[in-house]
Amino acid sequence: MNTALDRLVIGAGVLLSLALMAPAAAQEPVPDLELPAMAARPAPDARRGEVLYRRSCAICHGPSGRGDGPTARFLDPAPRDFTRGVYKLRSTPTGELPTDDDLFRTITDGVPGTAMIGWRGLPAGDRWQLVFRLQSMSARFGKPRAAALKVPEPLAFFSEEEVARGAAVYVALGCGECHGPSGRADGPAARTMVDDRNHPIRAFDFTRSWKLKSGRSPKAMYRVLHTGLDGTPMPSYAGTLSDRDSWALIGFLRSLFVDVNLSRQ
Ligand code: HEC
Ligand code: HEC
Repeated sequence: MNTALDRLVIGAGVLLSLALMAPAAAQEPVPDLELPAMAARPAPDARRGEVLYRRSCAICHGPSGRGDGPTARFLDPAPRDFTRGVYKLRSTPTGELPTDDDLFRTITDGVPGTAMIGWRGLPAGDRWQLVFRLQSMSARFGKPRAAALKVPEPLAFFSEEEVARGAAVYVALGCGECHGPSGRADGPAARTMVDDRNHPIRAFDFTRSWKLKSGRSPKAMYRVLHTGLDGTPMPSYAGTLSDRDSWALIGFLRSLFVDVNLSRQ
């Protein structure tokens, strides 16, 4: 039976789900190499930075940045301990500190797939004060810092031939040990891996491209392969991977994405 009331209820349901879907789509973080609002960088203001940090960050990262806020024990992955000066998301070589722009980008876009949301809603000037506040928490930032790696323009990486070449590179370099033979995070090491604070950690499941922490454009993927995710078992392959092999590997990984439309972009 399909009465007018049924139709009304179904209509209202559709409208409600559209209303619920719309903000989710609009808020999806798209971290990438491009930096918004660079011009707005102000001079450091320690007091402003502290006020903002306490208001928005301390609940997870802890009052003095040790990663020990009241919510921390419920979160996996755990909030970063800023006093250690070890960061996953960098454009710099492994073992180095992130650039100022890297931190600004992380604060703006957040870390997909984790409790770390983006703070685009804060004015750019305030996001810069937060960059300075985080840097003041680790003495490592007082020393000279490494420059960002230059990401070359992509070579054609999505032809069948290059994807097959990428699959061979994936096997040869042992990515499957952690990421699994089919890239679904089910490799032999999957259940035993820990991060540098001894928390269990899983490798990335390549079918879940929307969770890529350092961005899902081909250039962002190149960067993560050549910088690694410090503090995790994900190593840097700088010096190991030639440019052609890097792009072929990226072509292969993108062929595993389930949102196929992305794979050729
Ligand atoms: C609801 C909890 C939560 C809040 C609030 C939060 N964070 Fe985070 N943050 C996290 C978690 C969890 C991670 C770790 C993500 C990971 O390891 O993949 C993280 C990681 C980070 C990182 C490190 C990324 C890297 O490269 O390793 C930075 C920088 C950061 N947060 C800054 C901030 C700032 C600044 C604020 C306040 C504006 C903030 N966070 C508020 C949970 C939070
Ligand atoms: C020793 C284990 C290990 C090996 C070997 C390894 N990875 Fe990873 N990889 C990880 C872990 C663990 C993560 C997840 C880290 C996190 O989420 O913080 C990861 C994450 C990633 C990511 C996601 C980056 C992001 O932005 O979120 C990519 C892409 C990746 N690995 C590619 C590769 C490729 C390609 C190879 C081989 C050339 C490889 N990995 C080898 C452990 C490994």
